[in-house]
Amino acid sequence: MSEFAQRLIRWHTRHGRHDLPWQNTTDPYRVWLSEIMLQQTQVATVIPYYARFLARFPTLADLAQAPVDEVMPLWAGLGYYARARNLHKCAQTIAAAHGGVFPRSPEALVSLPGIGRSTANSIATFCFGARAPILDGNVKRLLCRAFGIAGFPGSSAVEKRLWQLATDLMPATDGAVYNQAQMDMGATVCVRGKPLCKQCPVAESCVALREKRIAELPAAKPRKAVPERAACLLVVRDLAGRVLLETRPPAGIWGGLQSLPELPAGREAASWLQQRLGVAPSAVLPAPTWRHAFSHFRLNITPLLCSIDQPHVAGEALWQWVDAAALPGAALPAPVRGILLQAGLLEELKS
Ligand code: ADE
Repeated sequence: MSEFAQRLIRWHTRHGRHDLPWQNTTDPYRVWLSEIMLQQTQVATVIPYYARFLARFPTLADLAQAPVDEVMPLWAGLGYYARARNLHKCAQTIAAAHGGVFPRSPEALVSLPGIGRSTANSIATFCFGARAPILDGNVKRLLCRAFGIAGFPGSSAVEKRLWQLATDLMPATDGAVYNQAQMDMGATVCVRGKPLCKQCPVAESCVALREKRIAELPAAKPRKAVPERAACLLVVRDLAGRVLLETRPPAGIWGGLQSLPELPAGREAASWLQQRLGVAPSAVLPAPTWRHAFSHFRLNITPLLCSIDQPHVAGEALWQWVDAAALPGAALPAPVRGILLQAGLLEELKS
């Protein structure tokens, strides 16, 4: 076994995390769900979502049988919603093509919707004892620093090199502990910003530490200007205290979630609503702008607070009038939840 793997495994016994909700199980459903939720998302954020999800869908069969509309509310606020749609597709694929039983090999796992190479290998090591390396963001940072690998780790050339290195370092036994140790090291010691090198079990051999290149490694993504977009979202309330929500089309941002109606560019809110609802709002008030970063652009949202002085007005097919009391249970993206909170229409979601 490599010195690197040995040191990490030894470190993990005393300093690793042992009580996360998805540990101490080899149930692939639970492990898979945690790995998907943990992509791009911190452990502390995931924990309450994970508990709620499992309470509603305790088994793979429960998830496969549910309509996707019942899955999205449990993901609302976590972001990267393609994960939830793929999760549901994956459950249905396993039910239909694998007799409801998770396949065991990394090759079969990676062919399923939403499961990439690193996630497939995590599941295969944690649940089935495979010897399969992982390479998520935390592991990339650890390897780039420990072995002095320059270049942006998301580029295909550097990624290829990192996969080779990860494969070479992978021990023949204790794969699950080793992979968990790498994740825990990346999350608690070899962190972005200021890593805790005094606590690091591989500091002695770390290239970045020796060469004072901690701040340079891993190399940042080559900068491209992030495009900015603007949108007006309408917070429309009727006399009965209901709020107008719009189900987003399945493709595109917030696909399948419930958002606020978006005013088309260049339109004026009062006349547009008059056309759609058959009644003009009695007041339209702009609220402070919200900025939200997506992976490929930034969105500046101006909420417009619109009052309709009649109850029971009709709407578009994808529009729903929702009682304020029912809003906490709706599949709202985080900025929409924030806008409704600010407008006094929603209490803080309790987890
Ligand atoms: N990040 C990705 N997978 C993880 C896991 N199993 N435990 C903690 N953090 C993780």
